[in-house]
Amino acid sequence: MSHAVQRRLVVTPTYAGWRKQALIALAAQWPPETLAWEDAPHQPQAAQIALDYAAPGDEPHAEAPCPGLPPAPPQVRVSREFAQLLREAAQYRSPRPWALLYRVLWRYTHGDRAGVSAADEDGARLHAMAKAVRRDHHDMIAYVRFRRSDRPGMPQYVAWYEPRHDVLADAADHFARRMGHATWCIGTPHGLAHWDGSALRITDAPADAQALRADAAADPAEALWRLYYQSTFNPARLNEAALHQRMPVRFWKGLPEAALIPSMIAQARHGARRHAQAQGVGDMPGKPVAVDAQRAQPQRPVPAALDACRRCELWRHATQAVPGQGRDAARVMLVGEQPGDHEDLAGQVFIGPAGQVLDEALKCAGVPRDALYLTNAVKHFKWVARGKRRIHKTPAQREIDACSLWLQEELERVRPEVIVALGATALRAIAGPGARLQECMGRPMRLGRAWLLATWHPSYALRAGGDDARGRVVAGIADAVAQGYQLAGSASENAGT
Ligand code: URA
Repeated sequence: MSHAVQRRLVVTPTYAGWRKQALIALAAQWPPETLAWEDAPHQPQAAQIALDYAAPGDEPHAEAPCPGLPPAPPQVRVSREFAQLLREAAQYRSPRPWALLYRVLWRYTHGDRAGVSAADEDGARLHAMAKAVRRDHHDMIAYVRFRRSDRPGMPQYVAWYEPRHDVLADAADHFARRMGHATWCIGTPHGLAHWDGSALRITDAPADAQALRADAAADPAEALWRLYYQSTFNPARLNEAALHQRMPVRFWKGLPEAALIPSMIAQARHGARRHAQAQGVGDMPGKPVAVDAQRAQPQRPVPAALDACRRCELWRHATQAVPGQGRDAARVMLVGEQPGDHEDLAGQVFIGPAGQVLDEALKCAGVPRDALYLTNAVKHFKWVARGKRRIHKTPAQREIDACSLWLQEELERVRPEVIVALGATALRAIAGPGARLQECMGRPMRLGRAWLLATWHPSYALRAGGDDARGRVVAGIADAVAQGYQLAGSASENAGT
């Protein structure tokens, strides 16, 4: 059934402007398909909003409806999440979402709440818009750069930024909370945020945008900032795809440090990556990232396809994919969980603290490292930041599944007689998601032509309280490796090799 548009609603293009009109339309019971929404023509004065700083987050109240129209309902009750979703999506710039917002609100107030869900067609669009706005808000906070201004009559700091959506007010609110009494302004093509030390005003776009942009581009203190930025750059952690994703080129023009990026990338591509830290930082006293060349096995070149693997999202935050290491002719394959912090930087398996425990266990078992093939169920480091540290995070089953292709490739290439699964993740990667470490430990199992043995992950020894517990874990791993080595020997004898 097609409905002729019966009314045009003109909206001051803000959430408050839409909300005012939407409440009027709801009170009048105007169905969404009978309405056409459009932005109010530009009115400089109407665009001025003074944010009440004492109560941030309050919305301007809906104004009294036009004379002759039914009164707005005293309250339209929606859940907090829904209100938040509407507010975020309302900041989407192109196309303006007014009709969509009203349709979802209409459905909600008529008992159909599916529109709030991302599984619904309208809901999916709403969520996608809200997500784009959140991203833009986040980017604005991350990429606005204030410069000191010496021009008379200007605030102390000025910045120029070009957001995609109407996130200026929210982002300015963020800066107002963090920059104390220093005065500043942020110019954008669509509005100006001005903080005078105690109140925030969002007004029309700056009349003299060019002058503001020029002010925002000159600051002697920037040389210092660039020096600092350069010194924090770590070529070993450079992930160009992630860099471009996190700091898209479109932001570079506003970032003083961006001019340095191309040369730093070139530097990393031409070998600096292996230093693990920028040369300047590496030369400073402090804790270096230790890569024990004795223990580390000769590095197999990273297969281009593995390092380029995008089958899950872990590559985004990892330095590089870490392939397995060892002889293709090895009879025993040890499978760990995933590279840790050290492994991620060096591109080699088991060279960090868990690797030291493993070495201890191998020594107890009397099995040299180079007799084995060592690899992981997941090839990229999954971590969360805690302060300045990157803390290991257990990979999810979907990440294990996504990476199983690489483990399969290693199993087919090496064709080990015995596989030792170090820990629950490795066991699940090899024997399936239902396999339980406690049930499998100490019981060699047949896996096609190979034996599968399960034991602790070496990092469990690092977490185990006390020397006794640690010793038991090391001994457990040593037993499994020794048993595996024996089984491999007897399997070869039986096969006449
Ligand atoms: N833990 C693992 O499972 N593998 C490594 O390579 C390092 C730590």
